[in-house]
Amino acid sequence: MPEFDFIKAAMCQPHDRVPIWIMRQAGRYLPEYRAVRKKVTFMELCRSAELMAEVTSQPIDIFGFDAAILFSDILLPLEQMGPKVVFDEGGPKIKPPIRSTDDVAAINVFNPAEKMDYVLNGLKAIKKRLNGQVPLIGFCGSPWTLACYMIEGGGSPSFIETKKFMYNHPKDMAILLDKLAEVTGHYLKAQIEAGADAVQLFDSWGGIIPPEHYRKFSLAFNKKVFDICKTDGIPRIMYLNNSGPYLHLLAEMDCEVVGIDWRTDIMLADKILDGKAIQGNIDPHMLFGSPDELLKQTNILLEQTAKRDGFIFNLGHGILPTAPVENVRLLVETVHSFKRPSGHDA
Ligand code: CP3
Repeated sequence: MPEFDFIKAAMCQPHDRVPIWIMRQAGRYLPEYRAVRKKVTFMELCRSAELMAEVTSQPIDIFGFDAAILFSDILLPLEQMGPKVVFDEGGPKIKPPIRSTDDVAAINVFNPAEKMDYVLNGLKAIKKRLNGQVPLIGFCGSPWTLACYMIEGGGSPSFIETKKFMYNHPKDMAILLDKLAEVTGHYLKAQIEAGADAVQLFDSWGGIIPPEHYRKFSLAFNKKVFDICKTDGIPRIMYLNNSGPYLHLLAEMDCEVVGIDWRTDIMLADKILDGKAIQGNIDPHMLFGSPDELLKQTNILLEQTAKRDGFIFNLGHGILPTAPVENVRLLVETVHSFKRPSGHDA
């Protein structure tokens, strides 16, 4: 494989340029994505290898990001486990929600190498389309985050049903999480076998529970996922939204990169996550600020992390659908024109 700055930064190795990609970089803020999406439903897009390849490469061609991310969704594997997954205007719905011992017992553990073949075929088509230009990141949702959607039956402002289930039925919760870890671990492994150059585990909702519960109900299962898919030369990125209160626990993960959100102090993360690469952490809302302010904040983050070989520039969470494209271009140009000090981690 060619020497990519993204892979080197993920492995904490010296490299020339700070790599940048952004979560949800293939999405509705791009007119080119909206043009494709006008013709098909989200599910149709996720099932067409050709269209997956087209939308995955759009942000690479338009902005010159240093990595591409598979176009798919974290909720798709849930369909093979029992419930129906529907994407409508009001966000995704999982039907019926999982709320009892019997519901958990009925959840099906399946082989993603077989049943997720449409995603894996799409991944291969994307690799072909990228033609070695940039590495491709595969991904899945963390067991905890997927359980949140399964138990609520969709998104939620507070995930009250999930918390009730965890506090009232901790054993069933652990059984559900273990089933999800089995599936997602093998799903990431299958993505690596199909050609993914790195993988990211999205723990979008791990940051809503007390740290000791995070350790028991999220971290423990994330460890299982990363044990199953561990592969030489393939960086594993653990992203946690609202990561600040859990940095000491993330430091325990066997992973190469930790993705942090914008509320997390980068210098604190730098100290606590010594030996691991960090990915993040501009506030996605900063893209709505003036170009001058964005430039200033981007340079502050670049200076703060300049001595770190293990740093990948990203937002602290996904880009919002209304974000101005011109500020995305400015962000990428600013990061790419930054001169890393020689000697780096010295
Ligand atoms: O560029 C990329 O990042 C590509 C692929 C990608 C999507 N979803 C496409 C998508 C990735 C990596 C995801 C991850 C994902 N999906 C997460 C974890 C990241 C996070 O944001 O915390 C979560 C929680 C989901 C679940 C999900 N999918 C929700 C809640 C929604 C609806 C809300 C929304 O943003 O619209 C989706 C739909 C979805 N997934 C869209 C895209 C581009 C929008 C669908 C559309 O085009 O109408």
